[in-house]
Amino acid sequence: MIFVTGGAGFIGSNFILDLLASQDEHVLNIDKLTYAGNPYNLASLDGDERYHFVQADIADREKITQLFEQHQPRAIIHFAAESHVDRSIHSPGEFIHTNVNGTFSLLEAARAYWSALDSEKKAAFRFLHVSTDEVYGTLGPNDPPFSETTPYAPNSPYSASKAASDHLVRAYHHTYGLPTLTTNCSNNYGPYHFPEKLIPLVILNALDGKALPIYGDGQQIRDWLFVSDHCAAIRQVLARGKVGETYNIGGWNEKANLDVVHTLCDILDQQKPKAVGSYRDQITFVQDRPGHDRRYAIDARKLERELGWKPTETFETGIAKTVRWYLDHPQWVINIRTGGYLKWLELHYGGDAEETT
Ligand code: NAD
Ligand code: TYD
Repeated sequence: MIFVTGGAGFIGSNFILDLLASQDEHVLNIDKLTYAGNPYNLASLDGDERYHFVQADIADREKITQLFEQHQPRAIIHFAAESHVDRSIHSPGEFIHTNVNGTFSLLEAARAYWSALDSEKKAAFRFLHVSTDEVYGTLGPNDPPFSETTPYAPNSPYSASKAASDHLVRAYHHTYGLPTLTTNCSNNYGPYHFPEKLIPLVILNALDGKALPIYGDGQQIRDWLFVSDHCAAIRQVLARGKVGETYNIGGWNEKANLDVVHTLCDILDQQKPKAVGSYRDQITFVQDRPGHDRRYAIDARKLERELGWKPTETFETGIAKTVRWYLDHPQWVINIRTGGYLKWLELHYGGDAEETT
Protein backbone atom coordinates (compact mmCIF):
# COMPACT_ATOMS: atom_id res chain seq x y z
CA MET A 1 0.00 0.00 0.00
CA ILE A 2 0.95 3.63 -0.63
CA PHE A 3 -0.24 6.51 1.57
CA VAL A 4 -1.16 9.71 -0.23
CA THR A 5 -1.77 12.82 1.90
CA GLY A 6 -3.93 15.56 0.40
CA GLY A 7 -5.26 13.17 -2.25
CA ALA A 8 -8.58 15.01 -2.53
CA GLY A 9 -6.84 18.18 -3.73
CA PHE A 10 -5.94 19.18 -7.26
CA ILE A 11 -2.63 17.38 -7.80
CA GLY A 12 -3.22 14.59 -5.28
CA SER A 13 -6.44 13.47 -6.94
CA ASN A 14 -4.82 13.54 -10.40
CA PHE A 15 -1.94 11.52 -8.92
CA ILE A 16 -4.24 8.84 -7.45
CA LEU A 17 -6.29 8.55 -10.66
CA ASP A 18 -3.15 8.25 -12.82
CA LEU A 19 -1.47 5.81 -10.42
CA LEU A 20 -4.42 3.44 -10.23
CA ALA A 21 -4.81 3.61 -14.02
CA SER A 22 -1.20 2.57 -14.54
CA GLN A 23 -0.34 0.14 -11.73
CA ASP A 24 -1.95 -2.28 -9.34
CA GLU A 25 -1.47 -0.93 -5.85
CA HIS A 26 -3.63 -0.10 -2.86
CA VAL A 27 -3.78 3.60 -1.99
CA LEU A 28 -4.89 5.18 1.29
CA ASN A 29 -5.83 8.81 0.76
CA ILE A 30 -5.41 10.77 4.02
CA ASP A 31 -7.12 14.13 3.65
CA LYS A 32 -8.61 16.61 6.12
CA LEU A 33 -11.05 17.85 3.45
CA THR A 34 -10.46 21.56 3.81
CA TYR A 35 -12.18 23.89 1.33
CA ALA A 36 -9.65 22.59 -1.28
CA GLY A 37 -10.35 18.92 -0.70
CA ASN A 38 -13.00 17.53 -3.02
CA PRO A 39 -13.76 13.81 -2.77
CA TYR A 40 -15.93 14.19 -5.88
CA ASN A 41 -12.64 14.34 -7.87
CA LEU A 42 -12.24 10.63 -7.10
CA ALA A 43 -15.84 9.59 -7.73
CA SER A 44 -14.75 7.40 -10.65
CA LEU A 45 -12.97 5.13 -8.11
CA ASP A 46 -16.22 4.26 -6.31
CA GLY A 47 -16.24 0.48 -5.99
CA ASP A 48 -12.50 0.13 -6.74
CA GLU A 49 -11.25 -2.00 -3.86
CA ARG A 50 -7.71 -0.63 -4.25
CA TYR A 51 -8.80 2.88 -3.17
CA HIS A 52 -9.24 3.76 0.51
CA PHE A 53 -10.01 7.09 2.13
CA VAL A 54 -9.71 8.42 5.65
CA GLN A 55 -10.57 11.94 6.72
CA ALA A 56 -7.76 13.05 9.03
CA ASP A 57 -5.47 15.97 9.75
CA ILE A 58 -1.81 15.14 9.05
CA ALA A 59 -1.01 16.97 12.30
CA ASP A 60 -3.02 14.35 14.27
CA ARG A 61 -0.02 12.22 15.26
CA GLU A 62 -2.03 9.59 17.10
CA LYS A 63 -4.31 8.97 14.13
CA ILE A 64 -1.47 8.90 11.60
CA THR A 65 0.56 6.54 13.82
CA GLN A 66 -2.41 4.22 14.05
CA LEU A 67 -2.80 4.29 10.23
CA PHE A 68 0.88 3.40 9.74
CA GLU A 69 0.56 0.47 12.14
CA GLN A 70 -2.65 -0.75 10.58
CA HIS A 71 -1.69 -0.50 6.89
CA GLN A 72 2.14 -0.89 6.84
CA PRO A 73 2.67 1.28 3.72
CA ARG A 74 5.74 0.94 1.50
CA ALA A 75 5.72 4.68 0.80
CA ILE A 76 4.02 7.96 1.61
CA ILE A 77 3.52 10.68 -1.00
CA HIS A 78 2.96 13.93 0.87
CA PHE A 79 0.81 16.43 -1.04
CA ALA A 80 -1.31 17.79 1.84
CA ALA A 81 -0.79 21.51 2.22
CA GLU A 82 -2.43 24.88 2.27
CA SER A 83 -1.46 25.90 -1.24
CA HIS A 84 -2.82 29.31 -2.23
CA VAL A 85 -0.48 32.31 -1.91
CA ASP A 86 -3.31 34.86 -1.61
CA ARG A 87 -4.89 32.91 1.25
CA SER A 88 -1.49 32.77 2.97
CA ILE A 89 -1.40 36.57 2.85
CA HIS A 90 -4.88 36.87 4.38
CA SER A 91 -4.40 34.19 7.05
CA PRO A 92 -0.97 32.57 7.39
CA GLY A 93 -1.80 30.56 10.53
CA GLU A 94 -3.32 27.60 8.67
CA PHE A 95 -0.19 27.42 6.50
CA ILE A 96 2.03 27.05 9.55
CA HIS A 97 -0.35 24.47 11.04
CA THR A 98 -0.46 22.18 8.00
CA ASN A 99 2.69 22.87 6.01
CA VAL A 100 5.10 23.17 8.95
CA ASN A 101 3.58 21.47 12.00
CA GLY A 102 1.65 18.95 9.90
CA THR A 103 4.75 17.92 7.95
CA PHE A 104 6.75 17.72 11.19
CA SER A 105 4.11 15.50 12.76
CA LEU A 106 3.95 13.28 9.67
CA LEU A 107 7.74 12.93 9.67
CA GLU A 108 7.70 11.91 13.31
CA ALA A 109 5.01 9.29 12.72
CA ALA A 110 6.87 8.02 9.63
CA ARG A 111 10.17 7.87 11.51
CA ALA A 112 8.68 5.82 14.36
CA TYR A 113 7.06 3.41 11.89
CA TRP A 114 10.15 3.14 9.66
CA SER A 115 12.56 2.61 12.60
CA ALA A 116 10.68 -0.51 13.63
CA LEU A 117 10.64 -2.13 10.14
CA ASP A 118 12.89 -5.07 9.27
CA SER A 119 15.98 -4.18 7.25
CA GLU A 120 14.52 -5.09 3.85
CA LYS A 121 11.35 -3.04 4.33
CA LYS A 122 13.37 -0.25 5.89
CA ALA A 123 15.55 0.00 2.79
CA ALA A 124 12.53 -0.03 0.48
CA PHE A 125 10.44 2.59 2.36
CA ARG A 126 10.14 6.10 0.87
CA PHE A 127 8.82 9.44 2.18
CA LEU A 128 8.25 11.57 -0.92
CA HIS A 129 7.64 15.23 -0.11
CA VAL A 130 5.92 17.27 -2.82
CA SER A 131 7.08 20.88 -2.83
CA THR A 132 7.17 23.96 -4.99
CA ASP A 133 9.57 26.15 -6.97
CA GLU A 134 8.31 29.13 -4.91
CA VAL A 135 10.80 28.24 -2.14
CA TYR A 136 13.56 29.68 -4.34
CA GLY A 137 12.06 33.18 -4.38
CA THR A 138 11.90 35.33 -7.48
CA LEU A 139 14.04 35.68 -10.63
CA GLY A 140 15.10 38.71 -12.65
CA PRO A 141 14.41 38.66 -16.41
CA ASN A 142 17.88 37.37 -17.32
CA ASP A 143 18.58 35.07 -14.36
CA PRO A 144 19.09 31.37 -15.07
CA PRO A 145 16.18 29.14 -13.98
CA PHE A 146 16.07 27.62 -10.48
CA SER A 147 18.23 24.51 -10.09
CA GLU A 148 18.39 22.11 -7.14
CA THR A 149 21.31 24.13 -5.76
CA THR A 150 19.64 27.56 -5.93
CA PRO A 151 19.58 29.01 -2.39
CA TYR A 152 16.17 29.19 -0.72
CA ALA A 153 14.64 32.69 -0.55
CA PRO A 154 10.88 32.32 0.04
CA ASN A 155 8.86 35.53 -0.17
CA SER A 156 5.28 34.67 0.86
CA PRO A 157 3.93 32.96 3.98
CA TYR A 158 3.01 30.05 1.67
CA SER A 159 6.49 29.64 0.22
CA ALA A 160 8.13 30.20 3.63
CA SER A 161 6.00 27.44 5.13
CA LYS A 162 6.85 25.09 2.26
CA ALA A 163 10.54 25.98 2.60
CA ALA A 164 10.36 25.12 6.30
CA SER A 165 8.80 21.75 5.47
CA ASP A 166 11.52 21.05 2.86
CA HIS A 167 14.19 21.77 5.48
CA LEU A 168 12.53 19.42 7.97
CA VAL A 169 12.42 16.64 5.36
CA ARG A 170 16.07 17.22 4.54
CA ALA A 171 17.00 17.10 8.24
CA TYR A 172 15.08 13.85 8.82
CA HIS A 173 17.14 12.19 6.11
CA HIS A 174 20.44 13.69 7.23
CA THR A 175 19.93 13.09 10.96
CA TYR A 176 17.84 9.91 11.15
CA GLY A 177 18.45 8.34 7.75
CA LEU A 178 14.73 8.42 6.87
CA PRO A 179 14.62 7.57 3.12
CA THR A 180 13.19 10.84 1.85
CA LEU A 181 12.79 12.32 -1.63
CA THR A 182 11.78 15.92 -2.32
CA THR A 183 10.35 17.34 -5.53
CA ASN A 184 10.10 21.08 -6.26
CA CYS A 185 7.66 21.71 -9.07
CA SER A 186 6.56 24.76 -11.03
CA ASN A 187 2.92 25.93 -11.45
CA ASN A 188 0.57 23.12 -12.42
CA TYR A 189 -2.65 23.35 -14.40
CA GLY A 190 -5.22 20.84 -15.68
CA PRO A 191 -8.40 18.99 -14.63
CA TYR A 192 -9.78 19.31 -11.07
CA HIS A 193 -7.91 22.60 -10.42
CA PHE A 194 -9.78 24.56 -7.76
CA PRO A 195 -11.04 27.85 -9.25
CA GLU A 196 -9.18 30.18 -6.90
CA LYS A 197 -6.01 29.74 -9.00
CA LEU A 198 -5.41 31.80 -12.14
CA ILE A 199 -6.21 29.34 -14.94
CA PRO A 200 -9.48 27.77 -13.67
CA LEU A 201 -10.60 31.12 -12.25
CA VAL A 202 -10.23 32.77 -15.64
CA ILE A 203 -11.97 29.93 -17.53
CA LEU A 204 -14.98 29.92 -15.21
CA ASN A 205 -15.23 33.70 -14.81
CA ALA A 206 -15.05 34.08 -18.59
CA LEU A 207 -17.94 31.64 -19.10
CA ASP A 208 -19.96 33.42 -16.39
CA GLY A 209 -19.43 36.82 -18.05
CA LYS A 210 -17.44 38.06 -15.05
CA ALA A 211 -14.25 40.12 -14.85
CA LEU A 212 -10.93 38.34 -15.50
CA PRO A 213 -8.76 39.83 -12.73
CA ILE A 214 -5.10 40.43 -13.66
CA TYR A 215 -2.85 41.45 -10.77
CA GLY A 216 -0.67 44.51 -11.43
CA ASP A 217 0.65 44.71 -15.01
CA GLY A 218 0.15 41.00 -15.75
CA GLN A 219 3.81 40.61 -16.74
CA GLN A 220 4.69 38.19 -13.93
CA ILE A 221 6.07 34.96 -15.35
CA ARG A 222 5.26 31.40 -14.29
CA ASP A 223 6.63 28.12 -15.73
CA TRP A 224 3.48 26.06 -16.42
CA LEU A 225 3.34 22.26 -16.27
CA PHE A 226 0.35 20.08 -17.16
CA VAL A 227 -0.63 18.17 -14.00
CA SER A 228 -0.33 14.65 -15.45
CA ASP A 229 3.29 15.40 -16.39
CA HIS A 230 3.92 16.34 -12.73
CA CYS A 231 2.27 13.10 -11.60
CA ALA A 232 4.42 11.05 -14.01
CA ALA A 233 7.55 12.76 -12.67
CA ILE A 234 6.56 11.91 -9.08
CA ARG A 235 6.05 8.25 -10.04
CA GLN A 236 9.54 8.23 -11.60
CA VAL A 237 11.13 9.83 -8.54
CA LEU A 238 9.33 7.37 -6.26
CA ALA A 239 10.48 4.40 -8.33
CA ARG A 240 14.05 5.43 -9.09
CA GLY A 241 14.96 8.63 -7.28
CA LYS A 242 18.10 8.63 -5.13
CA VAL A 243 17.27 8.75 -1.44
CA GLY A 244 17.95 12.10 0.21
CA GLU A 245 17.94 13.96 -3.13
CA THR A 246 15.73 16.74 -4.40
CA TYR A 247 14.45 16.96 -7.98
CA ASN A 248 13.15 20.06 -9.74
CA ILE A 249 10.16 19.50 -12.03
CA GLY A 250 9.14 22.03 -14.66
CA GLY A 251 7.57 22.38 -18.05
CA TRP A 252 10.01 24.70 -19.87
CA ASN A 253 6.93 26.86 -20.44
CA GLU A 254 7.59 30.36 -19.16
CA LYS A 255 4.57 32.57 -19.82
CA ALA A 256 3.51 36.01 -18.63
CA ASN A 257 0.13 35.96 -16.86
CA LEU A 258 -1.45 38.30 -19.40
CA ASP A 259 -0.36 35.99 -22.24
CA VAL A 260 -1.88 33.00 -20.41
CA VAL A 261 -5.17 34.85 -20.03
CA HIS A 262 -5.12 35.96 -23.69
CA THR A 263 -4.57 32.32 -24.72
CA LEU A 264 -7.50 31.16 -22.57
CA CYS A 265 -9.76 33.85 -24.06
CA ASP A 266 -8.74 32.91 -27.60
CA ILE A 267 -9.47 29.20 -27.04
CA LEU A 268 -12.85 30.04 -25.49
CA ASP A 269 -13.62 32.41 -28.39
CA GLN A 270 -13.23 29.39 -30.67
CA GLN A 271 -14.83 26.70 -28.50
CA LYS A 272 -17.70 28.69 -27.00
CA PRO A 273 -18.02 32.02 -28.83
CA LYS A 274 -19.86 34.90 -27.12
CA ALA A 275 -22.85 36.42 -28.83
CA VAL A 276 -20.93 39.72 -29.10
CA GLY A 277 -17.21 40.45 -28.79
CA SER A 278 -14.34 38.46 -27.30
CA TYR A 279 -13.69 37.08 -23.81
CA ARG A 280 -10.65 39.40 -23.84
CA ASP A 281 -13.12 42.25 -23.28
CA GLN A 282 -13.66 40.92 -19.73
CA ILE A 283 -9.98 41.39 -18.71
CA THR A 284 -9.71 43.77 -15.73
CA PHE A 285 -6.48 44.94 -14.12
CA VAL A 286 -6.78 44.84 -10.32
CA GLN A 287 -4.50 45.72 -7.41
CA ASP A 288 -1.30 43.67 -7.35
CA ARG A 289 -0.64 40.90 -4.81
CA PRO A 290 1.62 42.19 -2.00
CA GLY A 291 5.18 40.86 -2.41
CA HIS A 292 4.24 39.36 -5.79
CA ASP A 293 7.13 37.27 -7.16
CA ARG A 294 8.02 38.47 -10.65
CA ARG A 295 9.34 35.35 -12.32
CA TYR A 296 9.66 31.62 -11.67
CA ALA A 297 11.47 29.23 -14.01
CA ILE A 298 12.67 25.69 -13.41
CA ASP A 299 15.75 23.92 -14.69
CA ALA A 300 14.51 20.30 -14.85
CA ARG A 301 17.64 18.84 -16.45
CA LYS A 302 18.62 16.73 -13.43
CA LEU A 303 15.35 14.80 -13.62
CA GLU A 304 15.76 14.29 -17.35
CA ARG A 305 19.42 13.29 -17.08
CA GLU A 306 19.09 10.94 -14.12
CA LEU A 307 15.59 9.51 -14.44
CA GLY A 308 14.72 10.13 -18.09
CA TRP A 309 11.62 12.25 -17.35
CA LYS A 310 10.43 14.89 -19.81
CA PRO A 311 7.05 16.62 -20.05
CA THR A 312 4.80 15.18 -22.73
CA GLU A 313 2.45 18.16 -23.07
CA THR A 314 3.40 21.53 -24.51
CA PHE A 315 1.59 24.55 -23.07
CA GLU A 316 -0.54 24.70 -26.22
CA THR A 317 -1.73 21.07 -26.00
CA GLY A 318 -2.14 21.14 -22.22
CA ILE A 319 -4.11 24.36 -22.08
CA ALA A 320 -6.46 23.22 -24.87
CA LYS A 321 -7.15 19.98 -22.94
CA THR A 322 -7.73 21.96 -19.76
CA VAL A 323 -10.31 24.30 -21.29
CA ARG A 324 -12.05 21.31 -22.88
CA TRP A 325 -12.16 19.54 -19.49
CA TYR A 326 -13.89 22.50 -17.80
CA LEU A 327 -16.38 22.79 -20.66
CA ASP A 328 -17.12 19.05 -20.44
CA HIS A 329 -17.57 18.92 -16.63
CA PRO A 330 -20.31 21.41 -15.68
CA GLN A 331 -21.47 19.24 -12.76
CA TRP A 332 -17.98 19.37 -11.17
CA VAL A 333 -18.10 23.14 -11.45
CA ILE A 334 -21.56 23.31 -9.85
CA ASN A 335 -20.38 21.12 -6.97
CA ILE A 336 -17.42 23.38 -6.33
CA ARG A 337 -19.57 26.47 -6.54
CA THR A 338 -21.99 25.29 -3.89
CA GLY A 339 -19.08 25.09 -1.42
CA GLY A 340 -16.95 27.81 0.19
CA TYR A 341 -15.57 29.14 -3.09
CA LEU A 342 -18.03 32.03 -3.46
CA LYS A 343 -17.33 33.28 0.07
CA TRP A 344 -13.62 33.34 -0.76
CA LEU A 345 -14.20 35.45 -3.87
CA GLU A 346 -16.12 37.97 -1.81
CA LEU A 347 -13.41 38.19 0.89
CA HIS A 348 -10.51 38.53 -1.51
CA TYR A 349 -11.74 40.55 -4.47
CA GLY A 350 -14.62 42.46 -2.89
CA GLY A 351 -16.81 43.59 -5.78
CA ASP A 352 -14.01 43.58 -8.40
CA ALA A 353 -14.24 40.01 -9.60
CA GLU A 354 -18.01 40.07 -9.82
CA GLU A 355 -18.09 42.95 -12.30
CA THR A 356 -18.72 42.38 -15.94
CA THR A 357 -17.57 44.70 -18.68
P1 NAD B 1 -4.72 21.77 -3.06
O1 NAD B 1 -4.85 22.98 -2.20
O2 NAD B 1 -5.56 21.63 -4.28
O3 NAD B 1 -4.97 20.46 -2.18
C1 NAD B 1 -4.46 20.31 -0.89
C2 NAD B 1 -5.14 19.10 -0.24
O4 NAD B 1 -4.58 18.93 1.07
C3 NAD B 1 -6.65 19.27 -0.07
O5 NAD B 1 -7.32 18.09 -0.46
C4 NAD B 1 -6.81 19.53 1.43
O6 NAD B 1 -8.06 19.08 1.94
C5 NAD B 1 -5.64 18.74 1.99
N1 NAD B 1 -5.21 19.23 3.31
C6 NAD B 1 -4.96 20.52 3.67
N2 NAD B 1 -4.59 20.58 4.96
C7 NAD B 1 -4.57 19.29 5.41
C8 NAD B 1 -4.25 18.70 6.67
N3 NAD B 1 -3.87 19.44 7.72
N4 NAD B 1 -4.33 17.35 6.78
C9 NAD B 1 -4.72 16.58 5.72
N5 NAD B 1 -5.05 17.10 4.54
C10 NAD B 1 -4.97 18.43 4.37
O7 NAD B 1 -3.17 21.69 -3.41
P2 NAD B 1 -2.47 21.19 -4.76
O8 NAD B 1 -2.44 22.30 -5.73
O9 NAD B 1 -3.04 19.88 -5.14
O10 NAD B 1 -0.99 20.99 -4.23
C11 NAD B 1 -0.57 19.76 -3.66
C12 NAD B 1 0.88 19.88 -3.22
O11 NAD B 1 1.70 20.23 -4.32
C13 NAD B 1 1.10 20.98 -2.17
O12 NAD B 1 2.03 20.48 -1.21
C14 NAD B 1 1.69 22.13 -2.95
O13 NAD B 1 2.54 22.90 -2.15
C15 NAD B 1 2.46 21.38 -4.03
N6 NAD B 1 2.62 22.12 -5.30
C16 NAD B 1 1.52 22.65 -5.92
C17 NAD B 1 1.71 23.30 -7.15
C18 NAD B 1 0.53 23.87 -7.91
O14 NAD B 1 0.74 24.53 -8.94
N7 NAD B 1 -0.71 23.66 -7.47
C19 NAD B 1 2.98 23.39 -7.72
C20 NAD B 1 4.06 22.82 -7.05
C21 NAD B 1 3.87 22.17 -5.85
P1 TYD C 1 -1.79 31.38 -8.81
O1 TYD C 1 -2.60 30.53 -9.74
O2 TYD C 1 -2.43 31.88 -7.55
O3 TYD C 1 -0.44 30.59 -8.50
P2 TYD C 1 0.91 31.10 -7.75
O4 TYD C 1 0.65 32.34 -7.00
O5 TYD C 1 1.21 29.93 -6.87
O6 TYD C 1 1.94 31.29 -8.85
O7 TYD C 1 -1.30 32.64 -9.62
C1 TYD C 1 -0.57 32.49 -10.82
C2 TYD C 1 -0.19 33.88 -11.27
O8 TYD C 1 -1.37 34.58 -11.65
C3 TYD C 1 0.46 34.70 -10.17
O9 TYD C 1 1.48 35.52 -10.74
C4 TYD C 1 -0.68 35.56 -9.65
C5 TYD C 1 -1.54 35.77 -10.88
N1 TYD C 1 -2.99 35.94 -10.62
C6 TYD C 1 -3.69 37.00 -11.20
O10 TYD C 1 -3.10 37.84 -11.92
N2 TYD C 1 -5.02 37.11 -10.95
C7 TYD C 1 -5.69 36.24 -10.15
O11 TYD C 1 -6.93 36.41 -9.93
C8 TYD C 1 -4.98 35.14 -9.59
C9 TYD C 1 -5.66 34.13 -8.69
C10 TYD C 1 -3.61 35.02 -9.85
